Amino acid sequence: MSAGIYGKPLAEVVDLPAGAVQFSPLMPGASELGQQGEATLASMTMLAPPGTLERRYAMALALRAVVPGGAFTALAPNDQGGTRLRKELQAFGCTVTESARRHHRVAVCTRPDKLNGIDAALAEGGPQLVADLGLWSQPGVFAWDRIDPGSALLLEHLPALAGRGADLGCGIGILSHAVLASPAVAQVDLIDIDRRAVQAAQHNVDDPRARFHWGDVRDSNAVPGDLDFVVMNAPFHDAGAEDRTLGQGFVKRAAEVLRSGGVCWLTANRHLPYEAVMKPLFKRVDLRIEAAGYKIYEARK
Ligand SMILES: C[S@@+](CC[C@H](N)C(=O)[O-])C[C@H]1O[C@@H](n2cnc3c(N)ncnc32)[C@H](O)[C@@H]1O
Repeated sequence: MSAGIYGKPLAEVVDLPAGAVQFSPLMPGASELGQQGEATLASMTMLAPPGTLERRYAMALALRAVVPGGAFTALAPNDQGGTRLRKELQAFGCTVTESARRHHRVAVCTRPDKLNGIDAALAEGGPQLVADLGLWSQPGVFAWDRIDPGSALLLEHLPALAGRGADLGCGIGILSHAVLASPAVAQVDLIDIDRRAVQAAQHNVDDPRARFHWGDVRDSNAVPGDLDFVVMNAPFHDAGAEDRTLGQGFVKRAAEVLRSGGVCWLTANRHLPYEAVMKPLFKRVDLRIEAAGYKIYEARK
């Protein structure tokens, strides 16, 4: 029986089991906890996710997957759910020993024979149709139950596109859904590092011209080349921490995969320094709209 691991817990905070199977939906290629049979893992060490619904969902899946009597360790930074772990695990029927290390709480228990409240946690944190949006989504996914204002602004100003393109960091597929309204679009590759987002996008973008990829835009082979267009609302958080190089990496990848004359439509928070990164990579960079704290750029290769 294998040990499981979820995310990348700090080795200074917990002992990491050797040879463990990775289950994080943010690590392309990882196994899917929801597909893991009940009582089939020897143990689980989980860097518990920050959102309450997302965390309770992941812990419920993990507890179900661990064999009764197997060790379950959940840890999280104090200000990202760590202080709630003990109560949440107790509510699932666990007897918890808690410790504090390096601004983290570490909650350790053995998987009890009888678990409580698992189905409710799975329903609340699982894939679901968000009535207000009419779209599939899941807690934990970017802006999971609303349209991000930056994406909404881009949707207002995006012209009809044509040919083959990519949606980098597609989330639940909002931008592609709009792009595919143009009959001149032949193909769109949707790429996101979050498996849950890609799965939701597959529901939301029901179109034979769409292709879906669970992958990291930073990987050189993640995005096909010679494209006519790219759309993106570039991320600037990696694992919860602001990381400007992430969005800049997206811009560089867009410049790389576009054919000469191809276009990149990008929406970004106004404070992010994309212009300087774009200018040397594209023939033309035009700021099309600046409103409500966001900037929309059209960059021509
Ligand atoms: C600002 S959100 C935009 C989502 C969607 N396009 C929209 O407009 O609602 C950025 C997306 O990029 C994804 N992402 C972050 N880092 C990534 C990476 N290295 N490779 C691929 N996708 C990534 C996130 O999971 C998130 O869904």
